[in-house]
Amino acid sequence: MKELAQIASAVQASSTMVMDALAKQMQADGVDVIGFGAGEPDFNTPDHIKEAAKHAITENVTRYTPASGTIAMKQAVCRRMKEDCGLDYVPSQVVVSSGAKHCVYIALRTLVNPGDEVILPAPFWVSYLELIKMVGATPVVVTAEESAGFKMTAEQLADAITPKTKALILNNPNNPTGMVYAEEELSAIARVCVEKDIYVISDEVYYGLLYDGVKSVSFASLGEDVKARTILVNGVSKSYAMTGWRIGYLLSSGKIAQMMGNFLSHSTGSPSSVSQAASVAALNGSQDCVEQMRRAFELRRNYIVERINAMEGVSCLKPEGAFYVMMNIGKQLGRTLHGELISSSDDFAAALLKHGLVATVPGSGMGAPNFIRWSYATGMDNIKKGMDRLQGFLNG
Ligand SMILES: Cc1ncc(COP(=O)(O)O)c(C=O)c1O
Repeated sequence: MKELAQIASAVQASSTMVMDALAKQMQADGVDVIGFGAGEPDFNTPDHIKEAAKHAITENVTRYTPASGTIAMKQAVCRRMKEDCGLDYVPSQVVVSSGAKHCVYIALRTLVNPGDEVILPAPFWVSYLELIKMVGATPVVVTAEESAGFKMTAEQLADAITPKTKALILNNPNNPTGMVYAEEELSAIARVCVEKDIYVISDEVYYGLLYDGVKSVSFASLGEDVKARTILVNGVSKSYAMTGWRIGYLLSSGKIAQMMGNFLSHSTGSPSSVSQAASVAALNGSQDCVEQMRRAFELRRNYIVERINAMEGVSCLKPEGAFYVMMNIGKQLGRTLHGELISSSDDFAAALLKHGLVATVPGSGMGAPNFIRWSYATGMDNIKKGMDRLQGFLNG
């Protein structure tokens, strides 16, 4: 048979999903594994959002919607972005799609030609690398060191730009590091983007989950010239515990939004009508549910960071957002733990799962080879038990 598509053949499975599937399989087999791999809130979708979905079904809101989303949804997005980020967008600049992940894909599809370069700061969310490859572009990875708070500097960005550079993917707050750029750091990056004429896909899907009183600064709020070259990605998955509803949204100039809408009209057709109705309730309703979940995440972060840093031979920074901690395992490399030689983060994660019954995600697929990602989107009891197991595992 003929060769399959080169681009599709080059795409790797998501390492976070592989690890999660392995842990779930062990759990299904009766093994008492605690999962810290999942990138989704453990909370249920709030009741008023579920009620809105039930109402939509009863009222037969069950047909195709416009390809780029309903007017009600676009208006709700504009209102929320104005209230939370001070951003002025009109509904024609909003595109609603089936999750923030798909939004990043649509944004890349709209911006880049095969052969273009897309700059990706590491550590990065695993999907970005594959999404860039899926559109035939070349990822240019810029490593943001732990000593720099895992944040790429404007100088690093400027050095990575070539005549082929089309766009930068910026993820703030960041998965997997949880780190948050300060306004002046973002402004310095924005200046380079304007000066060198590159687009920015700014994924702010964790903007509702910030700690220590840190305020979210949207990249698009940094000036009209910055906004004009920014495609803002956001969604309801993380802030409202709605990962399964599959709704994300994009904000951009009207021309880009029109192109993205055209693309959607021939691919997904439209996002789910029922999920959009639920998302309108999420965006327009009381935001108390977001605050409640945010507070619970903050307590868990405080606990997990303190425990990790109290252990010999591992350490982590204190992240200001999202629900992840990156644990530095550099000192574990070369050790033999429970009969297993640890020579990479993959080895460490595999041994921790096998001998400690704790599922994490190795940083190898995230451009962070000496790190392990812990997601604290799980209950405090699990976190306490998981930290005890880590301690036992490190003791050899
Ligand atoms: C940075 C980032 N962007 C986007 C997504 C995907 O969000 P959605 O569930 O809306 O597709 C994730 C999920 O893990 C993420 O971490």
